[in-house]
Amino acid sequence: MSEQTKDLTAMAMAIMDKAYSPYSNFSVGAAIRTGSGNVYAGCNVENVSYGLTICAERNAIAQAVSAEGPDLKLEEVVITNRNAEGVSIPCSPCGACRQVIAEFAGPDTIIRYQGRNGEVRVSMEELLPDSFRF
Ligand code: THU
Repeated sequence: MSEQTKDLTAMAMAIMDKAYSPYSNFSVGAAIRTGSGNVYAGCNVENVSYGLTICAERNAIAQAVSAEGPDLKLEEVVITNRNAEGVSIPCSPCGACRQVIAEFAGPDTIIRYQGRNGEVRVSMEELLPDSFRF
């Protein structure tokens, strides 16, 4: 694991403490590195009207766009999670987040998350093949 990746993992882990998840008791953290070398993190923010919940990945991307503007490229995305028992479970990014990550990713952008046998590392093209774009 490179130093940069370790940093992203630590950021994703740390921001889970900020998650607002009273309905699922499931905390998610996402940390991203952009082409500029800057890093951003986001947690999930739930809502009593469940469908309005914001996932950690989309929150992190919103932070990046707000800081850098619209021309950013995602180089690496790390997602961590913690359930009600404080345990990390196998959990890949939801479909909505895959599409939003794809908006700012290239086919070779790396996405890491907890799989059944430790950390999974996949490219954007593997995570969302043949994704919709104009
Ligand atoms: N969640 C994320 O933050 N990212 C995902 O990719 C999947 C789900 C959050 C949303 C909700 O707060 C909780 O996990 C349970 O669905």
